[in-house]
Amino acid sequence: MSKFAGKTAVISGGAEGIGFSIAQAVGKQGMNVVIGDIDVEQLKKASAALEAQGIDVLAVQMDVSKQEQWQAVAEQAVARFGKVHMLVNNAGVAGTPGAIEQTDDKDWRWVLNVNLMGVIYGTEAIVPRIKAHGEGGWVINVASMAGMMGVPFAGSYTATKVAVVGMSESWHAELAPHNIQVSVLCPAFVKTRINLSHRNKHAEYEMESKPESKGAGNTSPFEDHLQKVVEAGLAPEIVGERVIEAISAGELYIFTHPNYRKVVQARYKAIDEAFERSASSPLLQHVLDEEVASFS
Ligand SMILES: NC(=O)c1ccc[n+]([C@@H]2O[C@H](COP(=O)([O-])OP(=O)(O)OC[C@H]3O[C@@H](n4cnc5c(N)ncnc54)[C@H](O)[C@@H]3O)[C@@H](O)[C@H]2O)c1
Repeated sequence: MSKFAGKTAVISGGAEGIGFSIAQAVGKQGMNVVIGDIDVEQLKKASAALEAQGIDVLAVQMDVSKQEQWQAVAEQAVARFGKVHMLVNNAGVAGTPGAIEQTDDKDWRWVLNVNLMGVIYGTEAIVPRIKAHGEGGWVINVASMAGMMGVPFAGSYTATKVAVVGMSESWHAELAPHNIQVSVLCPAFVKTRINLSHRNKHAEYEMESKPESKGAGNTSPFEDHLQKVVEAGLAPEIVGERVIEAISAGELYIFTHPNYRKVVQARYKAIDEAFERSASSPLLQHVLDEEVASFS
């Protein structure tokens, strides 16, 4: 029997795309599935599709950027299934790609609140409940290849995804003693509707005016490019199965695009070379042999 069978997963943004793919994959392993999503129509479709596959599912409309809504999801999940064992912090938005001076403050807030605060609130709500039952479990944070390298014209998205990678590394060490395995999924392009994230943007984040605004028939070159690469991306179904494969092997970093290895290697090489230059600075010779401070 699968080690996942009979346990419960809570998946944000589970109504479509990568979240739905993970819901299907964990459901296939015999898990109960709670999908939380802002899009109520998609939730209905996803719920019906999962049920048709024999998966026990609870669908809850929620906005991940609202702390109290995460608490409500956690309570409903426990009320329905007794315990939660897995959290998948997947819901995310692309923001509006563009140059820094064209990125509106409200757009920054939207991306930060959904992609960063959404992950924080989800973890705050679910992890104490996993700790409490003592059986251990999993936290899977969905970052991006943008969490491994700075992406030009996508500063807000990159900021949140680098943060999610960093938090995952922190929590990996912090939660290991509780038998909670933390992983961070870093895909490159996957064929979803991420390029159409504005469909789920709240009125509170709408900009008053923007000369090169997005919208049907009025997209920027960055948005056109994003659309092309996303449409040529990996089939989302593969991503869910890859997550099962990787968490079964206890992986912290989950990659879906091995062809991006060289890009990340180039970044590490540049960082290593910068260390090398600091090591030869006359200003820093006394630091070279100092003991490295530990935080745990
Ligand atoms: N598709 C890609 O190329 C790609 C690459 C790397 C990382 N990712 C990441 O994968 C995750 C999933 O994206 P996707 O590609 O499946 O996109 P998607 O737009 O197809 O799906 C995102 C889901 O999240 C939901 N959602 C959006 N805002 C929400 C909110 N405030 N509260 C609750 N739910 C909300 C949407 O309704 C949708 O169901 C995101 O975190 C994204 O950044 C995607």
